[in-house]
Amino acid sequence: MFWVHFVFWGAIIAIVLMEFHFLLVFIDKIICVNIKKQIPFVASSRRMRHALIAEIQKHYSQYKTAVDIGAGDCALARMVARQCNMRVIAIENTWHSLTLARIKNRIFHAKKVELAAADAFEYLARTRKKYDIGIAYLGPSVNDRLIDVAGRFRVIITLAVPIPGIKPTRVLERVGGGTMYGGKWYVNNIYVYETPLKKS
Ligand SMILES: C[S@@+](CC[C@H](N)C(=O)[O-])C[C@H]1O[C@@H](n2cnc3c(N)ncnc32)[C@H](O)[C@@H]1O
Repeated sequence: MFWVHFVFWGAIIAIVLMEFHFLLVFIDKIICVNIKKQIPFVASSRRMRHALIAEIQKHYSQYKTAVDIGAGDCALARMVARQCNMRVIAIENTWHSLTLARIKNRIFHAKKVELAAADAFEYLARTRKKYDIGIAYLGPSVNDRLIDVAGRFRVIITLAVPIPGIKPTRVLERVGGGTMYGGKWYVNNIYVYETPLKKS
């Protein structure tokens, strides 16, 4: 009888927590899109992450620091930190994603992930530090801002959407699926830009 109660109430609590999580994500999306006018949290796919990590391991294994510019719940930052043995600064500016990131980083003991609660572009402008790799899964309305901060990185890697007007060093094509931004479908390519950036 104990196990019946345990499974029943366990399932009810899990469903309530899941609903609460989806409600927060939904509210966060509304705030991002309508008030902050920025790309909301959409997690990069496993296939994109694996392709990104393979690229870093193949070409930039000697590099030690990365920045996830708009880190969401830090899942990508944790994978890069663990699998590429890098210190990753994860910059995020929404309360929902920051809360999830704090909880998950603690659960997964992500010691090499440093969470920064800030607007990513203001943070990079303010701190003026240099990093090896900048990773951005942002969107077409934002990627041109990466040009202003390119001097902070040896390499910038964008997921799904290129930096407009800049010639990529390499493009990994069709790493799996696509991403919808503002009603337009982008095939999930990975764009690698070694700095200084070159105009296309
Ligand atoms: C598409 S998600 C990518 C999340 C994660 N990097 C990944 O690949 O799974 C974009 C994230 O960037 C955040 N973001 C967008 N603009 C930002 C900005 N200017 N400063 C900080 N975070 C930003 C959003 O809140 C969202 O969580």
